[in-house]
Amino acid sequence: MVGNLRMLKLLTLVGVWKIAIVSKTAYSLKVVGESPIDFLFDFIEESEGPFGGFDVIDNRPTAGGNASLLVMLIGSEVATVTEVTLVESVGSGQVNSTVEALGGGEYVVHFDRIPSVEFVVLVKGQNNNSISRASSGIFQRQSTTSLRASALNVAVDELDIVLEPGTPRSVSFSVMTTGEGGSFTMQATNDQGFTLYYPPSLFLDAGGSANGTVNITAPPNTPSGTVITLTIEAVAPSGADSDYAVLHLTVLPTVTDFTPPVCKLLSLNSDCPKNCKQSMWDLSVQVTDGVNGTGVDRVSLREGSGALNISMAAGNDNVTLVSYVASCCSPDVQLVAVDQVGNVEICRYSGASWSSRVDYSILLCFTLLSLSLQPENVII
Ligand SMILES: *[C@@H]1O[C@H](CO)[C@@H](O)[C@H](O)[C@H]1NC(C)=O
Ligand SMILES: *[C@@H]1O[C@H](CO)[C@@H](O)[C@H](O)[C@H]1NC(C)=O
Ligand SMILES: *[C@@H]1O[C@H](CO)[C@@H](O)[C@H](O)[C@H]1NC(C)=O
Ligand SMILES: *[C@@H]1O[C@H](CO)[C@@H](O)[C@H](O)[C@H]1NC(C)=O
Ligand SMILES: *[C@@H]1O[C@H](CO)[C@@H](O)[C@H](O)[C@H]1NC(C)=O
Ligand SMILES: *[C@@H]1O[C@H](CO)[C@@H](O)[C@H](O)[C@H]1NC(C)=O
Ligand SMILES: *[C@@H]1O[C@H](CO)[C@@H](O)[C@H](O)[C@H]1NC(C)=O
Ligand SMILES: *[C@@H]1O[C@H](CO)[C@@H](O)[C@H](O)[C@H]1NC(C)=O
Repeated sequence: MVGNLRMLKLLTLVGVWKIAIVSKTAYSLKVVGESPIDFLFDFIEESEGPFGGFDVIDNRPTAGGNASLLVMLIGSEVATVTEVTLVESVGSGQVNSTVEALGGGEYVVHFDRIPSVEFVVLVKGQNNNSISRASSGIFQRQSTTSLRASALNVAVDELDIVLEPGTPRSVSFSVMTTGEGGSFTMQATNDQGFTLYYPPSLFLDAGGSANGTVNITAPPNTPSGTVITLTIEAVAPSGADSDYAVLHLTVLPTVTDFTPPVCKLLSLNSDCPKNCKQSMWDLSVQVTDGVNGTGVDRVSLREGSGALNISMAAGNDNVTLVSYVASCCSPDVQLVAVDQVGNVEICRYSGASWSSRVDYSILLCFTLLSLSLQPENVII
């Protein structure tokens, strides 16, 4: 006994201990035990992804709403969870659950309701330790810190939104409260530094709700595939409560260019003698991407050992000029022209054989894919 603190050391006897205290003054009781069995938990929601499963929710659950908990039992491979309850810290309220075993010591626990006052998570289970009878039996553990649900809920309808560069997009959200009413402070942020337009505050009646929008525009030059993480937060008038929703927007230009670039032969000089080693042939081609085209992105050599020279037509960026010079021993050339969205054209030319000058009619220009691949539009 130290002052008015009494310490009792109990024999290691497994079972339910009952402690009775008779006191005329207020007292507190602390019971310390030693056991490897413990549990970890996270609030989760069913994943909307293609593989199902669960996502850990990083904001607090909402008071009054239903919720699921992922419980991981640690410290024993033969222990099982039988019951999980939320016990209100004040009073005797508790919320029961349904427990679903996932295997590997993991359980999904569903609650119909989250208390609006502080609560702890209480886990009860069975330990089937056949080797040591001393440590088998029922056990009970409780979370060391108490939790408090949010009386606020910020929700968005769409979690995955496609954003077209340069086009404004409205993201709707709703704010609900099960508690106080008044003017709720709104804050929207994003990780790309894009300008957001949203109401600085929303008025909610006690226990009411309100809708709002966040308007966002990705600058026209935003690279395709950029992902923007948008967070929308509401803070209660007293400042004591807050909640937020997180959503992702993917930048994807809408494609209107479905046609590949077009090659137009300007000249071809091929006067190759029988002995090809001594002579050269050359051609020049103009490459454009049509009226609705996104423009020629690149031209490269696919076949042919000659030299390629690529330049822009003077005064017109939409016209690419290609000249090619090769040995008469390398009579074939294939040029690959790709536009900004990945439509591909392969243009094939041939420096004629030694016997004659080339007639333009034998020049071939094939379209590789009439409806071409558009790698920029594929999101995996
Ligand atoms: C939990 O609450 C949500 C929204 O209120 C509802 O859509 C869902 O069906 C509820 N789930 C269960 C298991 O009651
Ligand atoms: C422990 O024993 C209980 C009751 O006998 C049984 O339902 C449970 O499956 C057992 N758990 C393990 C992990 O053996
Ligand atoms: C929760 O479960 C306990 C024990 O099984 C039971 O006594 C209590 O009535 C239940 N509470 C509710 C609200 O169902
Ligand atoms: C967002 O855009 C919509 C439609 O253009 C407009 O009605 C609304 O007022 C805008 N919201 C804000 C907060 O700027
Ligand atoms: C918010 O929008 C939903 C539909 O999107 C509508 O049913 C609801 O009445 C709106 N709430 C308020 C407070 O305007
Ligand atoms: C260009 O786009 C417009 C509008 O989409 C369309 O009417 C027209 O047929 C297109 N022109 C060509 C050559 O594809
Ligand atoms: C490529 O072509 C341009 C325009 O015809 C010309 O000015 C330039 O000298 C050429 N470069 C080479 C390396 O031949
Ligand atoms: C080049 O293409 C763009 C877009 O199609 C067009 O706006 C522009 O007028 C074109 N320039 C010339 C010189 O034809």
